[in-house]
Amino acid sequence: MFKSLPPIENLLRRILHAQDIAELDALEHECFGRKNGVFTIAFTAISSLKPNLRKTDAMSLNTLKTQALAALRDQRAALGKANRNTLAENPLDLTIDLPPSPRGHLHPIPSFMEELEDVFGRMGFDVAYGPEIETEELQFDLLNFPREHAARDAQDIFYLSLPAAPGNRWLLRGHTSPVQIRYMRTHTPPFRMICPGKVYRKDDDATHSPMFHQVEGMMIDRDISLANMKAVMIAAVQELISPETEFRFRTGYFPFVEPGLEMDMRWRNEGEWMEIAGCGMAHPNVLANCGIDPKSWQGFAFGFGVERMIMIRDGIPDIRLFFENDPRFLEQF
Ligand code: DAH
Repeated sequence: MFKSLPPIENLLRRILHAQDIAELDALEHECFGRKNGVFTIAFTAISSLKPNLRKTDAMSLNTLKTQALAALRDQRAALGKANRNTLAENPLDLTIDLPPSPRGHLHPIPSFMEELEDVFGRMGFDVAYGPEIETEELQFDLLNFPREHAARDAQDIFYLSLPAAPGNRWLLRGHTSPVQIRYMRTHTPPFRMICPGKVYRKDDDATHSPMFHQVEGMMIDRDISLANMKAVMIAAVQELISPETEFRFRTGYFPFVEPGLEMDMRWRNEGEWMEIAGCGMAHPNVLANCGIDPKSWQGFAFGFGVERMIMIRDGIPDIRLFFENDPRFLEQF
């Protein structure tokens, strides 16, 4: 058993030099661990010696064991005291900031809509909201759509089975333009307003989703022209996306404007134009439908596709990515 004594003395030295409680715990285990403790092994070895040899060895081993236990106890006390001293010198700082934990953020669409409201708000535009369930009358009739217009087709629009009134049906609005009607009925010109919101159509591919977002705008005053319209639309998009965006206006047909135009945009992608808005001068019939005299008032209206602007800004190839809610996509915003 004397072969195992040098390591035991070595252990005593190491106990007295232990720097912290964890080191001390490891040393205690090294001494008295149930399987491989140095003392455990030594005592087992002694028990296999002849009885006459056993006694002296057992006595010296017991002395060492007592020393080891005392050393462990003393060093534990010394370390505990040192620990209390450091605490006294460096008291707990309860004002310290914890490392930041991850926080969520707005989805790119509502976040972009907030920016939109902000940009138009600074140009003096009021923000209005309308319901997503509308009637055929507001979605089509009052916007000057003839009764037999193709846009009313059940191929394009989600109709609700409950009729609103004879000859009128409930539907999920297919554009934000009904909010023009709601706004004109409750406000007197001059005014400028936008209405952002969700719209629904029976479309589903890489650039069309059955639910998407538009922002409608309207400005009515005594002397508003297409030049004002172009200036407002271009200023807003350049502020939202980049001053380097390029635009192209083409004539287009929408029953509620005359003349009507489509606005295309491109940015960083030479040659690739994308349609982002319809616009034009508010049709006199529409103004009259809402009790506004078209001889005294005129102005423009526009409707942007919100997803398309974000797709151009961020190079997103497929509109469906917005609605799959895959964190690998959302975390990039
Ligand atoms: N409502 C049209 C659509 O969804 C977009 C639009 C075109 C809105 C011309 C307008 C406008 O206000 O003047 O296709």
